[in-house]
Amino acid sequence: MQKRLNHVAIIMDGNGRWAQQQGLSRLKGHEMGARAAKRVVQLAKDRSIPFLTLYAFSSENWARPQDEVEGLFNLLERFIAEEIDELNESGVRIRVIGDMSRFSDHLRGTIQRTMDLTRDNEALNLAIALNYGGRDEIVRCTRRLLEQGVKPDSVTEETISGMLDTSFMPDPDLLIRTGGEWRISNFLLWQLAYTEIYFTHTLWPDFGAEELDRAIQWYMGRQRRFGRTPEQVRGEDR
Ligand code: IPE
Ligand code: IPE
Ligand code: MG
Repeated sequence: MQKRLNHVAIIMDGNGRWAQQQGLSRLKGHEMGARAAKRVVQLAKDRSIPFLTLYAFSSENWARPQDEVEGLFNLLERFIAEEIDELNESGVRIRVIGDMSRFSDHLRGTIQRTMDLTRDNEALNLAIALNYGGRDEIVRCTRRLLEQGVKPDSVTEETISGMLDTSFMPDPDLLIRTGGEWRISNFLLWQLAYTEIYFTHTLWPDFGAEELDRAIQWYMGRQRRFGRTPEQVRGEDR
């Protein structure tokens, strides 16, 4: 039986090192990273993956030099402006996860218009993680629960899942991290509880169909046990 692959999440890492290897500026690396992201959105759609989440800017990335941070946000606005029509026409629904309260009114407006425009699309659900941190998300979620006066006994795992930024999607089945670092970097801490994790040395701007298919192939070969024994799971698959 073919394993389900409902949700792929990607930590798009390695733009800076890619640029350095080519003797280019880090910003050029991010530009090529944006192209890779565009490629992967189409590939995911072609492979009928319903949910794709891309980690574009972490809550810790503000610590980078100011010109890099500004360059990244300019690139994002440009990317949305240039690609939105094509994405919309190809049926991609776009949502942003993360804390948007720190963004300019202009960027918030752009994000809102993008989400509204693509609201009825169904070919692929794309979530872009922007100023996203897993711990920050849990803090914001906890505050919301307290504000709503939710009674302690009524808090379940479902309550929390339903309050997180990702409430509209299932937990990721597969996480891919490019760039050769074997860590999570504060991404989807709650949601990755049972996700299969694929690490690759490939730098993000070089990521394409071949590497995506390798990751999917690897995922298909995993036995997901969710705490049970290998024998139990084999029995159920039969
Ligand atoms: C990932 O590439 C993009 C962002 C974090 C915004 P990096 O910029 O982290 O690239 P490296 O890790 O320095 O090579
Ligand atoms: C993770 O990459 C964040 C994104 C890809 C957006 P980083 O480059 O920020 O991660 P660390 O700092 O090396 O862990
Ligand atoms: Mg990095």
